[in-house]
Amino acid sequence: MHLFRYVGKNLFCEGVSVDSLAKKFGTPLYVYSQATLEDHFQKLDSALAPLDHLICFAMKANSNLSVMRTLANRGSGFDVVSAGELQRVIAAGGDPKKCVFAGVAKSEKEIEFALQKGIYSFNCESEPEILRINKVAARLKKRAPIAVRINPNVSAKTHSKITTGTYENKFGIQFEHVEAIYARASKLKNIWLRGVQMHIGSQLTDVTPYELAVKKVLPLVKKLAANYKLEFFSPGGGLGIIYNPALASGSNEWWQSKAAKGILTPAVYAEKLLPLLKPLGLKILIEPGRFIVGNAGALVTQVEYVKRTGKKNFVIVDAAMNDLIRPAFYDSYHEIVPLVKKGGVTVSSDVVGGICESGDYFCKDRPLAKVGEGDRLALLSAGAYGFVMASNYNTRPLAVEVLVSGKKFAVARERQKVKDIWAGEKVVAWLK
Ligand code: LLP
Repeated sequence: MHLFRYVGKNLFCEGVSVDSLAKKFGTPLYVYSQATLEDHFQKLDSALAPLDHLICFAMKANSNLSVMRTLANRGSGFDVVSAGELQRVIAAGGDPKKCVFAGVAKSEKEIEFALQKGIYSFNCESEPEILRINKVAARLKKRAPIAVRINPNVSAKTHSKITTGTYENKFGIQFEHVEAIYARASKLKNIWLRGVQMHIGSQLTDVTPYELAVKKVLPLVKKLAANYKLEFFSPGGGLGIIYNPALASGSNEWWQSKAAKGILTPAVYAEKLLPLLKPLGLKILIEPGRFIVGNAGALVTQVEYVKRTGKKNFVIVDAAMNDLIRPAFYDSYHEIVPLVKKGGVTVSSDVVGGICESGDYFCKDRPLAKVGEGDRLALLSAGAYGFVMASNYNTRPLAVEVLVSGKKFAVARERQKVKDIWAGEKVVAWLK
């Protein structure tokens, strides 16, 4: 569900015309729907209600302070992957005590900061990391709460760049080694074995790999929980979203094959996983990013030129791969719709940005309503891994972000000023 909908010919985000936002704030522009964020959080929270649970929003998907505060106000914790993200949690008014710290490369400084802030758990990805956490905790005279991230060696069957749960990936600790690592870690004075975690990948639209992975680790989780009095188990994040609603129309074969397997909605997640998780009697954490924020955001852009080359119709827009890298990086699909519907003919088009790379495109050979210079378009489902992966490539400033709630709207991050892009740079003395 999301609240980007047409009212007549105009695309609205909740109660606000997106075109009016584009006119007011300029483009490229990210627009987020607060009610969509809340709805997604609520759906997951309700699905997990039979369990003692905590949702830790994977803020790597979208770390805008207003987005985070929206979720913190609903009781969300956060999955952080750097000291910087933990500082953002604090800046957004979130609670470090509801934070888990993931990632394979935690530095001593980051561990120290997280310990001082009293995070809920470090999700550990190697034995040297556990030893390092123990050392830092000893120095601070603390006991560090940790969980080992199990790599269950189950393929999430998603895009190769976002699959994490097999031995081909750098993540987690090999399933067969986990028990011995808990035994050794239990002897470390400054380590508190608090839980056990796994995460097999992102954009899972099928519940089966999830189910397989949970079933595989369950006997081990039970054993570890009993031996070390663990408090929680986390099956991770990774719930996928529908990027292409045409595929979800019901008539399509792809969709039917997915539906037959049980597409990964919160209800399906609950139906399949609750019977496995409930008997554990542990607190259950989950760490979703995309599911909560993906469909809650759109990237709005304006057409600069339309150009025909050979057989191609290029729609050249003012957003580019520096604003939204997902199509270039993962060949990902984002629905592209006009802010104001004009009707008329459909033209097979490539929507491209202005960056000097052939990879700088948002779609290729897609039938789109004919557009001209000055028309505005929205790239939907851009709320997750959109703005956070933006860069200043080609000295292009970061876009403005706006949060909408009902008929209200406000800037959640100002457009970056061009001068600020090189603010930390210097012409070194000997060049002057
Ligand atoms: N937990 C861990 C340990 C993760 O590595 C991730 C995502 C998540 C949770 C949240 O996954 P989600 O629920 O959002 O699927 N940039 C890529 C996605 C990278 C995902 C990285 N890890 C994209 O745009 O598709």
